[in-house]
Amino acid sequence: MSSKPIGIFDSGVGGLTVMAAIKKLLPNESLIYFGDTARVPYGNRCADTILKYTEECTSFLAEKGVKVIVIACNTASAHVFPYLQHKFHFPLLGVIEPGVEAALSASQSKKIGVIGTRATIASDVYAKQLKKRDAATKTVSIACPLFVPLVEEDWLENEVTHAVAKHYLSELAQDNVDTVVLGCTHYPLLKNVIGKVLGSKVVLIDSAEAVALSLKNLLKEKNLLAPLEESHQKKKHQIYVTDLSDRFETIVKRFLKEDIPSVGRVTF
Ligand code: DGL
Repeated sequence: MSSKPIGIFDSGVGGLTVMAAIKKLLPNESLIYFGDTARVPYGNRCADTILKYTEECTSFLAEKGVKVIVIACNTASAHVFPYLQHKFHFPLLGVIEPGVEAALSASQSKKIGVIGTRATIASDVYAKQLKKRDAATKTVSIACPLFVPLVEEDWLENEVTHAVAKHYLSELAQDNVDTVVLGCTHYPLLKNVIGKVLGSKVVLIDSAEAVALSLKNLLKEKNLLAPLEESHQKKKHQIYVTDLSDRFETIVKRFLKEDIPSVGRVTF
């Protein structure tokens, strides 16, 4: 048992979808979220830069004394997970593996679509992991770089977003995939628009819930769950960011669906 907090980080605010799922599944845990909002997006950057930024985020959370870190960013998980696991000597959880597992369970045809940032799609990590787990899997991967700024702008349902989704996903809709992995933390907020373009028969995999479940299993396995006697206390979660804009509170509220806990600004 451990009452130390769980660390979660993302390049920006998208990982709050993962934080929300963890908060729901593990209400007894204290959470520290770190969003590198001054340097988002990571998805258009080269692997070296992603590694440097991610290492700084991980060190920040490690210094806060967390018991485990969830890399709630597909781009970071795709590029640096094995490196970080080697460098930091405490449990780490990325978002790729839980998403892959969830996609394989959902897919009947084993023809699976993956959408993500340029860097995630260029890494080919989803296609490789899917193939490794089930050799019969065929993957169609598409980068959708404009989705992140559209979510940040709160354009979740309007005609521009619909046109962009159509542009990116029309081919995928013709490709007979039965499952599509939303391989970016922001994309679950575009589920409606993406679902409209792909059609209702396609299952959309939002890995946030799968990540929360994997985290619960990891904590159980390592005997790190928070002691139960603390469950009646209201958990104090913390959020840290590298840029704190006026719109931040609104964005966080949208993701967490509640008033934000304390927010601190960090500079590297
Ligand atoms: N968090 C990133 C991801 O899940 C999306 C935003 C970015 O490009 O940094 O890939």
